[in-house]
Amino acid sequence: MLKVAVFSTKKYDQRFLEEANQGRLDLHFFEARLDLDTCPLADKFPVVCTFVNDDLGPEVLLRLFGGGTRMIALRCAGYNNVNFYSVKNLGLVVARVPAYSPLSISEFTIGIMINLTRKIWRAINRAREGNFSLQGLLGFNIAGHTVGVVGSGKIGAAVAEALSGFQCRILLSDPYPNPDLVTKGYDFVSVEQLFRESDLITLHCPLTDTTRHMVNRDSIATMKQDVMIVNTSRGALIDTEAVTEGLKEGKIAGLAIDVYEEEADIFFEDRSDSIIQDDSFTRLLHFPNVIVTGHLAFFTIEAMRAIASQTIDNILAWHNGESPPGLVTP
Ligand code: NAI
Repeated sequence: MLKVAVFSTKKYDQRFLEEANQGRLDLHFFEARLDLDTCPLADKFPVVCTFVNDDLGPEVLLRLFGGGTRMIALRCAGYNNVNFYSVKNLGLVVARVPAYSPLSISEFTIGIMINLTRKIWRAINRAREGNFSLQGLLGFNIAGHTVGVVGSGKIGAAVAEALSGFQCRILLSDPYPNPDLVTKGYDFVSVEQLFRESDLITLHCPLTDTTRHMVNRDSIATMKQDVMIVNTSRGALIDTEAVTEGLKEGKIAGLAIDVYEEEADIFFEDRSDSIIQDDSFTRLLHFPNVIVTGHLAFFTIEAMRAIASQTIDNILAWHNGESPPGLVTP
């Protein structure tokens, strides 16, 4: 039976993957994140299955190839952690799960957006302490404001559609505007105009060399006073230092992030007993107008089922000599 080394697994990953697999593949679960130290675990495994923060850089890929790995099955949509020069040179096959549940991420995005505009999480914390004061909890309606959605793919489109029930003005920006949204009459503008005119900005584009740090000192300078920014896409779309400055200066009125540019060493583990060494991150955590969640926008039963079944389908297709449905050809 085909052996698959599954990295970065928690109990919930094992549960959904085993359910989807139904004994067709020989799955070996490793809790460890894939990196140079842990990649020997995959020796003699033709398939390696990874998640968002696993290291698929040149050295790891070379080492995996040397150990007999020929296919990488990503349990996620984004593939910014994969070095495709090495993939091509080594002749590896990489498959991903392009759309497992855009609604999971869009619903979560709307959730943290409203948390930000209405300070709900602060009110909940206060109530637990018996504090029912409204001081500092003044919010604003999304209705009547302008929301900028960067990226009009599956998730951005779902966010825009959800926002269309909020009586707000929606601006979208995408080098390849979603034809369905264009037909429906959504307003596509340049990213510069979106940054200039939006009260709330939500990011839904992939992390690439051109989108890295798209929210930076210069772009923040063009944004509205009291802008709020939501990022459920990839951490490095935002320059953390620049956004921290914007928060300190009072230019940015709120930030909600489910992703962080250096999240690999922090997220997906209980760190409540340890001292987090990343000072930029701990600083953000302590701002009263910043919400941080640990990359859970995708984490629903629906998404986990879809991720598991599409991952197994990708591996089985490759094993049968077919092109995996989620083949990545960047
Ligand atoms: P998608 O591929 O359907 O859409 C991405 C869109 O971004 C495309 O329409 C593309 O043309 C557009 N785009 C590319 N460069 C752009 C730029 N410079 N400015 C504006 N738009 C640009 O991807 P999908 O499924 O909508 O996912 C978006 C991102 O969300 C993924 O790349 C991934 O990083 C992130 N994600 C986060 C999750 C989480 O749990 N927090 C879960 C799943 C995805």
